[in-house]
Amino acid sequence: MNDNGFEGVRVCVFDAYGTLFDVHSAVGRYSARLTDAGAVSMLWRTKQLEYTWLRTLMGRYVDFWQITKDALDFALDTQAVDDPLLRKDLTQAYLELSCYPEVPKVLGDLKARGFRCAILSNGSPEMLGAAVRNSELENFFDAVISINAIGVYKPDPRVYQMAVDQFGLDPAAIAFQSSNAWDAAGAGAFGFKVAWINRFGQRPERLDTVADAELKDLKGLPDLLPAS
Ligand code: LAC
Repeated sequence: MNDNGFEGVRVCVFDAYGTLFDVHSAVGRYSARLTDAGAVSMLWRTKQLEYTWLRTLMGRYVDFWQITKDALDFALDTQAVDDPLLRKDLTQAYLELSCYPEVPKVLGDLKARGFRCAILSNGSPEMLGAAVRNSELENFFDAVISINAIGVYKPDPRVYQMAVDQFGLDPAAIAFQSSNAWDAAGAGAFGFKVAWINRFGQRPERLDTVADAELKDLKGLPDLLPAS
């Protein structure tokens, strides 16, 4: 495929949560024990992201596991759910999130064509390791990069620089995939080639940058990339 912006790509870097792994699968597993499971799941995710941004601005880093638990507590409290066993089950379920169905095949295709693949995520190394193992994706990744090492969250440019440092390539040789439009914008501003995986049919963010491609899931990614 020519002239689509992805010609020089050698490495594919993926956001984890919402892009490879279904963050709503945790609450989904226990929806029968909640009055409004959808509201809990949405608020859990929204607060989790807000806390990453706020803590980065405040200079008060704690790891993503702590943030995930804090955000769950806020969501359960807001919905007036006082159920310590459910809290424990939901917390554990976040370590066992399902990957989206197309993910193993897409990663297998990319690897067979010689692309190197990596995760670049806010997740702590333990969380990412658990998610990758749970979906049996271990063999597909050349690197699983956590922001833990630098203590700032996306979309700080220092996060995207971690992938450049890992592979020793120009940003333009890296295709970055995220379902989080704000993460896609941050990665585009940094200089990556960006595929926004618009799984939730959202409208584009107004954040200066436009993704190089928009896909509804990861199935179309191999066709965007140059022949190896
Ligand atoms: C991550 C969040 C942003 O995996 O989804 O970094």
